[in-house]
Amino acid sequence: MNILIKNGRIIDPSQDIDGKGEILIEDGKIMEVRRLKAEGKRLKAKNGKKNSELRTPDSELRIIDASGCIVIPGLVDMHTHLREPGYEYKETIATGTKAAVRGGFTSVCCMPNTNPVNDTISVTAFIIDKAKKEGSCAVYPIGAITKTQRNEELAELDALKRSGCVAFSDDGKPVTNSLIMRRALEYSKIFDVPIISHCEDMYLSEGGVMNEGFISTILGLKGIPKAAEEIMVARDLALCELTGGKLHIAHVSTEGSVGLIREAKARGIRVTAETCPHYFTLTDEALKSYDTNLKVNPPVRTERDVEAIKRGLNDNTIDAIATDHAPHHADDKTKEFDAAAFGISGLETAFPLSLKLVEQKVLSLKQLIHKMTVTPANIMGILKGSLSVGSDADIAIIDPEKSLEVDSSTFLSKGKNTPFHGWVLKGFVEKTIAAGKIYDWT
Ligand code: DOR
Repeated sequence: MNILIKNGRIIDPSQDIDGKGEILIEDGKIMEVRRLKAEGKRLKAKNGKKNSELRTPDSELRIIDASGCIVIPGLVDMHTHLREPGYEYKETIATGTKAAVRGGFTSVCCMPNTNPVNDTISVTAFIIDKAKKEGSCAVYPIGAITKTQRNEELAELDALKRSGCVAFSDDGKPVTNSLIMRRALEYSKIFDVPIISHCEDMYLSEGGVMNEGFISTILGLKGIPKAAEEIMVARDLALCELTGGKLHIAHVSTEGSVGLIREAKARGIRVTAETCPHYFTLTDEALKSYDTNLKVNPPVRTERDVEAIKRGLNDNTIDAIATDHAPHHADDKTKEFDAAAFGISGLETAFPLSLKLVEQKVLSLKQLIHKMTVTPANIMGILKGSLSVGSDADIAIIDPEKSLEVDSSTFLSKGKNTPFHGWVLKGFVEKTIAAGKIYDWT
């Protein structure tokens, strides 16, 4: 089936497009992107072809009227937990990718903290195969840095890369052994793939369940100091400088981390960084509710950190917005705070929460879309996040003005663990097109 998307505002930062236009999709690929003047006159086609009338539509042409909507490249999540293999009671590749397309994501990169860990080519092959059979969007596996994420020995990075891993990370845990991290960064240069660092000093964070500070003291909960993150950010920046490797810092949560990364970038160190919507939306004040859905690692911090993260997003110290989608079963969250699992189910609220940055004038709409499409795709080295002619037809159609109330019971993810249940937000996805397949949420 061929598709024509009309009447929308096309925003594609990869091609510097922002304006009214039409997109023609054929056989799952983008065939033409036509920019229109406000009154509907055709401008030169982006593909350089003569800007003629559209070819006579065949009977299979589906026309989508995107009036009032933005039409953007399908979002790219560089940090997702799909849980399969091993934790299918929390999420599967099928349900996680459904949640992704529900949130406007058409590409997700999945972390290796599964069971077994994705540290062998057979697990990578399993994920790729399952995603092909059951996935609703593109899935890119991230391999483990160390075997079974135990910090003793490097995983077989070369074999993993050859079998389809696009990056390496021990996410969920830090690489505590600095020599192993050094080696991983050295290999990252050879393979030209990022090493994604979960920055946490486990001695400092041990037993902690929220940000360490005034609020943790009055709540009687053990805190995780900001230094637990910042010490490891500083170490990894030093190792990145030493090796010239390709370092990416995951889920930045503190003012200090933003400062360290900013300074490193100014010195020319090859580092990139991401943050997640909860780190610029929530503070530890929210934990006064003792809602275990707020328990996440690293923890949400203070107003000062939120403001620093926004500044970091604004000046490109923080390159990308990722979800760290961490779905958990209700049984893992319906516990006393100390015993509950860390993580937020993030795919289905990420764009509406991030859109608030535009309202707050932290980012322009184009900058925001940049950080959720072409930037993460470039960091991961995948050909996604663009509406350029010939690309896979991965598109999100979003009404930025329509408000909806978040209802976690309607999530397509198995993980209903969101602290945003009941929030009224703008910018939910109307339709997602993933490789030419339409998912209609209206
Ligand atoms: O809160 C988190 N949950 N942080 C992580 O780093 C891992 C994740 C998970 O796997 O549940």
